[in-house]
Amino acid sequence: MYFYKNEFIHKKDIQISPDDRGYYFGDGIYEVFRVYNGQIYEGEAHMQRLERTASEVRLQLPYNNEEIIDIINKLIHHNNLIEGTVYLQITRGEAPRAHPFPAQAEPILLAYCSEVKRPLSTIQNGIKAITQPDIRWLRCDLKTLNLLPNVLAKQAALDHGVQEVILHREGTVTECSASNLMMVKDHLLYTHPANHLILHGITRAVVLRLAHALQVQVKEEPFTTEQLLQADEVFITGTTVEITSILLIDGQVIGTGTPGPITQRLQAEFERTFLQ
Ligand code: PDD
Repeated sequence: MYFYKNEFIHKKDIQISPDDRGYYFGDGIYEVFRVYNGQIYEGEAHMQRLERTASEVRLQLPYNNEEIIDIINKLIHHNNLIEGTVYLQITRGEAPRAHPFPAQAEPILLAYCSEVKRPLSTIQNGIKAITQPDIRWLRCDLKTLNLLPNVLAKQAALDHGVQEVILHREGTVTECSASNLMMVKDHLLYTHPANHLILHGITRAVVLRLAHALQVQVKEEPFTTEQLLQADEVFITGTTVEITSILLIDGQVIGTGTPGPITQRLQAEFERTFLQ
């Protein structure tokens, strides 16, 4: 069961107009929510980010927070979802192709859930990555549908036989194609500040809270790709990847080449935030 344009509907019955501005311009916004034990994880934080993105791109949300959470809960319930994700997007609506905001169009909400298991194998064993220039625009803090640079980056990773791309702007590490990045050096946890150059990840915020609780000192400071390669531990955070070690970057082994102690402590604490 999906939700599209004010109704719960089967996927096969959804009719999407070619005039949807999501197609012409990527003119829309989205969120990916995690569901653990049939419950939305960090729902309020996702809703705050959705509202902020909507307001920054001047898109009127068609429902209020409570109504959106209610739609998500009904999807979870209708689909008997225990473990998975909910994808939710809102486009600016349907109108013949023209750049200015359409006068009449009404924003369209699409939402559905998918059964997705936790990626336990990569969480335990880590992944490999390459570095690439970050060619995205200067509002990476907004969760918009314009993901072509992210798609190209992810595909470049797969073409290189690795799982993720670490993006940098003139040598300063920002984040990854679909996750935030953190590194540990001399027991300090570093990550790019939450400004306009990165997505303010919900998982990132949870991990920083957990780090404080574990008395790991956090430095939200930019760092370079050279510093990254000298790190003791590197990991990514995200709704779909949770906390996953990166053990090899551009062919170079990071730390001991196994998930590091601070990463493992954070992984254990992270599980406690949703395991019952
Ligand atoms: N992506 N950075 C980018 C560029 C992302 O696309 C994502 C998430 C994150 C992590 O944010 P969070 O912890 O809130 O999931 C960071 C989602 C999962 C996606 O586009 O599929």
